[in-house]
Amino acid sequence: MRVVILISGRGSNMEALLRAGLPVEFAAVISNKAEAEGLKIARELGVETAVVNHKDYPGREAYDARLAEVIDGYAAELVCLAGFMRILSDGFVQRYAGRMLNVHPSLLPAFTGLDTHARALAAGVKLHGCTVHYVTPELDAGPIIAQAAVPVLETDTAETLAARVLAQEHRIYPQAVRWIAEGRLSLTADGRTCLQGSQAEPAVLISPQG
Ligand code: GAR
Repeated sequence: MRVVILISGRGSNMEALLRAGLPVEFAAVISNKAEAEGLKIARELGVETAVVNHKDYPGREAYDARLAEVIDGYAAELVCLAGFMRILSDGFVQRYAGRMLNVHPSLLPAFTGLDTHARALAAGVKLHGCTVHYVTPELDAGPIIAQAAVPVLETDTAETLAARVLAQEHRIYPQAVRWIAEGRLSLTADGRTCLQGSQAEPAVLISPQG
């Protein structure tokens, strides 16, 4: 399965995907920013990179059309958004329906959008986390593939909480891609995902422990 990863910055989720030993071929890493640090990491890991700078295009439709051309030039069967910080046009999302994933730093459907960690702290939730999901036109609302929960500690700042969540993003994103590559993941008619061959019942996480 040929996979293209889209990034805008640091690229730590991209790196986790590239280093996970997945049974896929990473065709390219594409960024909307030439200065994205992740591009350098991708090159060091021997993966081809490309930049499609949004500032070179008059609007979202024109940008997304060019981005799709570049993605399709790599014959991508799966597109992984990994900190790709752009709103995508409906046409672009529909073109990759059922074959585009995103990782989001919250337990969706809670805290869609930005500043998820500060908002989780402000809301006083005791569990927070991350989600890997299929991308649909509605922001952060597509079928959920996997989630990881972490405790929120009294001493947490948005930064410490973000770091605890990020470590889990790096676990569940490669896991989700592996399930897809192995053909274990299916979509139900009502838009939920179903994992074949899942037997172990996961541990319950209670926070705080008292
Ligand atoms: C990650 O925490 C990812 O979940 C988040 O941006 C960060 C990118 O970090 N994505 C979003 O907020 C998308 N709505 P990375 O570049 O080190 O992977």
